[in-house]
Amino acid sequence: MNDPNGFCFFQGEYHLFYQYNPISSLEPGIAHWGHAKSKDLFRWEHLPIALYPDEWYDKSGVFSGSAIVENDTMYLLYTGNLNHPNEDPDHEQHQALAYSTDGVNVTKYEGNPVIDSPEHQPNIRDPKVWKHEDTYYMVLGNSFNNGTLGRALLYSSEDLKSWAEVSVLDESDGALGYMWECPDFFELDGKFILLFSPQGVEPEGNKYRNLYQTGYIVGDFDYDTHKFTPITEFVELDHGHDFYATQTILDHYNRRLLVAWFDMWEQNYPERDDGWTGQMTIVRELFLTKDNHLIQKPVTEVMNARGKLLYSARNTKGSKSVELSDKTGEIRVKAKASSDINLFIESKNQSATVKISYDHKQGLVTLDRGGNDGLRRTEWKPKEKKLRLRIFVDASSIEVFCGRGEVTFSSRFFPEDNVAVRLGENTEVEQMIVTAMRRTVKRPDNTE
Ligand code: FRU
Repeated sequence: MNDPNGFCFFQGEYHLFYQYNPISSLEPGIAHWGHAKSKDLFRWEHLPIALYPDEWYDKSGVFSGSAIVENDTMYLLYTGNLNHPNEDPDHEQHQALAYSTDGVNVTKYEGNPVIDSPEHQPNIRDPKVWKHEDTYYMVLGNSFNNGTLGRALLYSSEDLKSWAEVSVLDESDGALGYMWECPDFFELDGKFILLFSPQGVEPEGNKYRNLYQTGYIVGDFDYDTHKFTPITEFVELDHGHDFYATQTILDHYNRRLLVAWFDMWEQNYPERDDGWTGQMTIVRELFLTKDNHLIQKPVTEVMNARGKLLYSARNTKGSKSVELSDKTGEIRVKAKASSDINLFIESKNQSATVKISYDHKQGLVTLDRGGNDGLRRTEWKPKEKKLRLRIFVDASSIEVFCGRGEVTFSSRFFPEDNVAVRLGENTEVEQMIVTAMRRTVKRPDNTE
């Protein structure tokens, strides 16, 4: 799997689709839409493939897109990819509409495509749709200037079928890459967030170390003029190795929820040999601080997956090595703001040792998974009096939430045996709690 798609709440359940190649875990292949649903964002149940590449406009891939629920119908807008090998340009991308009234069977609209491929801009994809007052809006990722600059285009429609381009929300001047994938645009706490995944951003110190990035620009937006006025620079959303192609929704509790593909293109991680590849992050709730910084918290439903207590210590210097059950657990650490932290997540194979550390003098937090290009680091000035870390380990993944969620790291790692967690011997903390986490995703054949 790759990108999350069509995230929505429909008839009492969350639905999440995803880019999926049912044929092979070894290469991306021709994208289908896989499908799962959940009542609580943790206990997921697999459903049959929702969209197949079986029309002239999507036969080289049912690419990414989003959902909107109206009148008890789930509408899906996606990109149909059509390759033309040995031609220039070698592909075209159309936007298409599909719908479902039962949340399982999906029908493609017979009038597709709803937006034709522009002749000289073959990269135009990943529609994200929402409704404001009586109008539907769509943001599309695009590459222009002969494929050298990325941008986000805004479209509007009265009926989801007939669309007109109304503005360019923002565009790269070169520094922000040659293509913007998976754009998202939403209001949060009085501001507008343009969230997207640019390709072609050069590394700069601790920033932009991954092959591709995901980040956001905060600004103001006027629905009359369709003009977006940025008030911040582009900021990376997560600082780990494996975080891309995010999608958000506003759910029925009015929460802005975000999910990301917990992987990165061209990584060839060992899971592919086990017959699967790629996974999703824990769903996070987004908030905006007064100084226009996004905060991410695991949704409160994470409590539904919490298992038994494995370890709890107060005012300890260092800790014993605590073995997780089934390589899965939640680790919570609280310390004085003036502390330096070293926390190890380790397995028998040295290559699966991950060190998470905080250097309070420099105000830097680091995740180091070792090996080639293992280190990711960013500034963190905790917003609270205490230093708090909340870490979720799930077999081959680590998600770190710092403080109230002002910094996160999402990185994969590949233990070959049991996983244990340990505080460095000089690390003093006020509290450390380790709890088991229960497996909550059923297998594709729906066995546990
Ligand atoms: C992002 C992306 C999208 C595209 C999809 C194809 O990871 O490249 O732009 O729609 O993946 O699978």
